[in-house]
Amino acid sequence: MLRRLHPEQPDAFAFTAANQQWAEAQITKYPEGRQASAVIPLLWRAQEQEGWLSRPAIESVADMLGMAYIRVLEVASFYFMFQLQPVGSVAHIQVCGTTSCMICGAEDLITVCKEKIAAKPHALSADGKLSWEEVECLGSCTNAPMAQIGKDYYEDLTAESFGKIIDDLVAGKVPTPGPQNGRYAAEPLSGLSSLAEYEAGKPEYNASVELATDLGDTVKRIDGTEVPILTPWLGKDGKTAASKSAPKPPKEGATPKPAVKQAEEAKAKAADEDQPETLTAARGGKADDLKMLKGVGPKLEEKLNDLGVYHYDQIAKWTAANIAWVDARLKFKGRIERDGWVAQATSLAAGEETDFAKRAKEDGTYED
Ligand code: FES
Repeated sequence: MLRRLHPEQPDAFAFTAANQQWAEAQITKYPEGRQASAVIPLLWRAQEQEGWLSRPAIESVADMLGMAYIRVLEVASFYFMFQLQPVGSVAHIQVCGTTSCMICGAEDLITVCKEKIAAKPHALSADGKLSWEEVECLGSCTNAPMAQIGKDYYEDLTAESFGKIIDDLVAGKVPTPGPQNGRYAAEPLSGLSSLAEYEAGKPEYNASVELATDLGDTVKRIDGTEVPILTPWLGKDGKTAASKSAPKPPKEGATPKPAVKQAEEAKAKAADEDQPETLTAARGGKADDLKMLKGVGPKLEEKLNDLGVYHYDQIAKWTAANIAWVDARLKFKGRIERDGWVAQATSLAAGEETDFAKRAKEDGTYED
């Protein structure tokens, strides 16, 4: 397939103010004289903003990086992830046509694309909302056939479920990504044969789908205001605030606050409101053995202690907001609820013994 600049080009390209700030921050990652290393992130952000890479966008990135236009065009035209022609205003759909997907029905999906979007790949649908292409294996073969739509994977598709997804996109909805046949992730269709104990209490979606639904940016054009722009390599705090608590974009005409400051403010606010009761040291110098909680090993216990959590009764009092606060700091989203720490801690604080604690003591696995 020839990859060339599209014959029709816009007159100009400019990053949004926030994306410009993000792009400039990326360039500072690299030592003086090595700014060209930022070429792929900058091209990708330009594509996230516009949907595709126009000649002005490529030249604009080249100017920012002090590169010859041809060098940046070489990169953009080499990698198939860069779209060199306008894509659908709502979504560009990439259907995997490689072996697993093909034998599981990818050709049916392509027929749906031809019927509902356009007869040829890379052509826009009549209303301009969608475009499609066939791509090589996207690494989701156990959930074949599948398609990438925007940033997310839609898996275990049939012609019918895929057609419905396309209809929903046209109607302005964003269907939930992930398996579309009721599977949770990539487990056997006949059900789990191991790790079945994790079945109960699992979150609603698998981690990829949960992140996709949390971020809500499946088919969104990125203008840079979605998440704080952080520059930890410049010595700033690198912990990104959860997308849900990310600061709102500034009002039109208002001077945007520096993104790093926004992130710090959001984090401080979350810290004030949601922090559970913490202690500077264990009461009476004797901490409870938090490893008696299912899901807490020596490392996690150490982290909890670092956060000021030493006793079962502290955990027993955690609210949903407290759990989110701790979750964010342990970087194990959903684990506290999945393993039922609060219920376990409530029992242990009351002097009762949980099944897990009994087993752990018998095994001697976590004995101090
Ligand atoms: S063959 Fe389709 S994802 Fe691998």
